[in-house]
This record gives sequence, structure tokens and C-alpha cells, in this order.
Amino acid sequence: MFKNFWYAVEFSKDVVAGKPKKIKILGQQLVLYRKGSDGSIVALSDLCVHRGAALSGGEVKDDCIVCPYHGWQYNPGGEVVKIPAHPDRGIPRKARVDSYPVVERYSFVWVYMGDLPEEERPPIPDWSAIDDTVNYRAVTGSFLWKSNYERILENGVDVAHTPFVHGGVFGNREKPEVPEFRTEESPWHCKASVTLHPPRSKGLWGLINPNKQDLANRPPVEVSTTWFLPNMVLIEVNTPMGPMKIFDTNIPIDEETTLVKFVALRGFFKGAWADLDAKRRIFKVLREDQGIVDAVRPELLPFDLSSELHVKSDYNAVLYRRRRQELIDQGWSVEGNTIVGEGPARVEARVIPSPIRKEVPELASAWNFKEVRSREILAGSPDVKPRVERRLVMPDPEPSADVPAGGAGDEPEGSTESAVKSENEEAKA
Ligand code: FES
Ligand SMILES: [Fe+2]
Repeated sequence: MFKNFWYAVEFSKDVVAGKPKKIKILGQQLVLYRKGSDGSIVALSDLCVHRGAALSGGEVKDDCIVCPYHGWQYNPGGEVVKIPAHPDRGIPRKARVDSYPVVERYSFVWVYMGDLPEEERPPIPDWSAIDDTVNYRAVTGSFLWKSNYERILENGVDVAHTPFVHGGVFGNREKPEVPEFRTEESPWHCKASVTLHPPRSKGLWGLINPNKQDLANRPPVEVSTTWFLPNMVLIEVNTPMGPMKIFDTNIPIDEETTLVKFVALRGFFKGAWADLDAKRRIFKVLREDQGIVDAVRPELLPFDLSSELHVKSDYNAVLYRRRRQELIDQGWSVEGNTIVGEGPARVEARVIPSPIRKEVPELASAWNFKEVRSREILAGSPDVKPRVERRLVMPDPEPSADVPAGGAGDEPEGSTESAVKSENEEAKA
């Protein structure tokens, strides 16, 4: 998991005035709330510095959030401005929590989970098609996985699995070959485009899709899959009926739990009457993927590229793994907070540092909670396995030698029950 990125953590419409919202990301609890004065959203660490109560259980008052335990009042910058038990005494310098930058864009609330100054932050990707309500009709949804977000991301950009996992929906078992990719890359994304031959459309879409011919005469379809660091996927399909775009944020609740939130656009059947059908199709695909990805071992992506075998159609996943290693090397990874020692494991309260920690060095001693540890900081400590040397060369399309599998996974940090709701259950209905 990585700090220093913008994360789309929630749909804008689901953060409503006067109702603090608890979310969990990167093993951290945050509270989101909308200010009464200007309607903008605040994101604070959801951990009261007094006795660790969850601020999200409190109430919003005068743009501040009031802790439900002893009523300490935190302003949008994360500073305590009132301690009701001692109204006449000064407020300690340490009475503050981290406050993270927030923007609302493309129907999502984006929270910056890191401490870099604005000009050094990685970009939010251009997802402006979501705002194009003339050419597209959108449905949105969420889906909870008991698996690691990087496994899910790789699944999302992988076209070679579709004939086998989604045969009948959009994968075609008659034609599983993956032709040459065209790719577009930047340090923050990789888009791979390919021409595929999907099966005949069924159900509602089959009514207007002109792809009823035999495989040989069926019109091919342009498909692009894009990953954006650290956790996003865009799938674009130019169907004969019109374009389809699925934007996914794979929110790492912790290493082993992922909440996917998606916006799916379609440039055809733009009436509300086709929404349910469109949503059902996406949930069907997600459930098919879940059946496979939840059973993948090791659960976390290995650090060593050679722990798994790559072929040419895995190009974009290999690129993702290389970039991920670079991020680990630059100290952006986030380790879990569980301390394992004598006796039962304890969870140490550590937080992702917010920008003010760097902006105001005089506050250096004013942070009660220490920063999360990264793999770099931990290097050399006995609880971290040494990093295996990285291979930067693309593997051959035809691997010639057997490579030993598995074994290089990270230590799982203990699964955490998630308080989030998803539509998995609803979708089954
Ligand atoms: S725990 Fe929050 S005010 Fe005491
Ligand atoms: Fe899939």
C-alpha cells in the first residue's frame, strides 16, 4: 500500500452535510464531513488524540467536529479548539490530528494521503468523461473484496483472462489469442489497447448489437485497459452499439480487503430504464473475477518479479510491478501497524503524515501519533524479509526455464473487519 497519492475514497453524493462519515483506507480510519459554511469536505484522522475515540461518531458543529467521548472540538485543520472540561485553560500543542487535502472531482471525493507539498503530488487522472452527461449515461456501485487491491488491479487490466473467466459475457473462448498491444505510458499510468472478438451479445444488449454474425464476420471491438497509480483502473470498450467506459477505484481498506467503487458510462441505451441491466452486467463480471482473485496465492503481490511467470500479454502488469518497486524504493510504501511481540499482537496507533507536518517544522514535536512505517524505514529490522533483487528486463514471450514460484509475499498484517457497506449482497439478489 502506498502513501503520497490522491485516493478516490467515496462518491461525492454520499458525503452529506451534518453527517460525519467514517471510511477506512491504507489501514487508517478517517472521518469525512461537509462544512456547513461552504459545503467543502474535510478529511481528518479518525482518532481522537485524547483517548482514541472515533471522531466519526461525533457531530459537526460550526465547521468543526466534536468528539463523542469528552467533547473536544477539532477544526478543519485538525487542531483542537475547545476542551469543554477546562474552558479556561490553554489547549496543549499536541491536541491535534492530521488533516488531509480533499478535492471533489468526477463524482468522487479524492483525499491526499500523504505529506508532499502540492507541486510534488502525483496527479489525479483525467476522468472528465464522467462529467460528460450528454454523451454518456452513468451507473455507479461498490463491491467489497476479501483480497488485495493490487491483485484486483492486475485482474482489471488483464485481457487474457476474459475468455476463461468471462466467457459468454465479453470473453470469447473461440478466440483467446491476445494480439499485439498498443501502449501509452507515463510514470503514473499505462494504457494497453487491443482488438478483440467478443461473443454475440445476449439479453437486452443483444437486441441492438449488430454482432450476430459468425465469428469470422463479426465486427472486432477495440478494448483498452489502463492502470493509474496506485489503485485505479479504466476499461474502455468500443462496442458496435457505442462506447463503454468503466472507471474503478480499488480502495485498499487494508492489505487484504478492498472496496471497489465504480462509475460505468455507456454511450448507448441512455435512458434510466437500462440502468439496472447495465449494473447487473458489471456485478456479474465482478463476481466472476472475485471467484478467481480471492483464491489467488500468495494473497499479496510478490516483491520479486520472478516469483510468478510473465508472458507477453502480462506486459502492463509487469510494468505496474516495476513502478511499484520504485515507489517502495523511494519510501512511499505503508506498512501495517500491528506489533507482534511477546503476548498477543497489539495494534500501534500510527498515522499517515499530512502535509502540515512538513509545512510547519515547528510542530515537529506536536504530533502525538507517530508516522506509519514504510518498507524502506523498516529495512534491516528483523521482522522484514530482505528485498530480493529486482529484474528490470521484460521476460521473454516464451519462457524457457522454470522459475520457482511463491514464497516472496509480504507478511499479512491480520485481516480487519470492514465497517463499509457494499452492494455485493444486493447484487446477488
Ligand atoms: S476521547 Fe475524544 S475527547 Fe476524549
Ligand atoms: Fe475480469
